[in-house]
Amino acid sequence: MKKIVIAIDGNSGCGKSSTSKAIARQLQYIYIDTGAMYRAVTLFFIKNNIDLKNDLDVEEALKQIDISFEYNMETGKNETFLNGENVEHSIRQMDVSNLVSPVSEISRVRRKLVEQQRRLGAEKGVVMDGRDIGTVVFPDAELKIFMTANLEVRAERRQKELLEKNTNVELKEVIDNLENRDTIDTSRADSPLKKADDAYVVDTSNITFEEQVNQILKLVKDNIEVE
Ligand code: DC
Repeated sequence: MKKIVIAIDGNSGCGKSSTSKAIARQLQYIYIDTGAMYRAVTLFFIKNNIDLKNDLDVEEALKQIDISFEYNMETGKNETFLNGENVEHSIRQMDVSNLVSPVSEISRVRRKLVEQQRRLGAEKGVVMDGRDIGTVVFPDAELKIFMTANLEVRAERRQKELLEKNTNVELKEVIDNLENRDTIDTSRADSPLKKADDAYVVDTSNITFEEQVNQILKLVKDNIEVE
């Protein structure tokens, strides 16, 4: 069957990554979590005390960053590596979540990551999730999905996810973080989060995980048959 690029964009915490993973598994596609790439850069900046306002520091730091993904046979998950070190756990912590949106506002950072994302998707057969995949990274993607869900629902889901990883965070803190990231992600000058004109909207506020996966799989099927 013909392989396509599936671009999945949307707000923080609306279930993009778990949905994308499930779709990739069903279709035997590669899944690329671009948020993890911005998170890995943020972790490097935190560890090395990089001043986000200092262009030269940022440029030098970016030269030292190598991000890769490896499939973990035991967990069945694609894990993120920063300069050869598995950072899958640390990039999900609140210190990274609190700084990742300001880091992803920096055009230099975006240029480096977008270039790598285009390379990773060049062969197609890929599900890529993020904020600018359908608008900037792959504007010609064969299928674009824009996922949304209301803030309360997103916060509760994110809190549960963190709890499953043994991180206990107050709901209020999760809500504040999501709201703050929504504001920065949608209003930044470079590649703001917005729905591509030709994207399908999937609102996950009141549907089950299985339903959202099936909705998208149906769109994939329709799309491939039309081509
Ligand atoms: O998907 P996530 O919540 O792990 O993403 C973390 C942050 O990275 C998000 O707040 C904005 C940024 N991001 C981005 O600017 N562009 C992308 N393609 C993916 C993520």
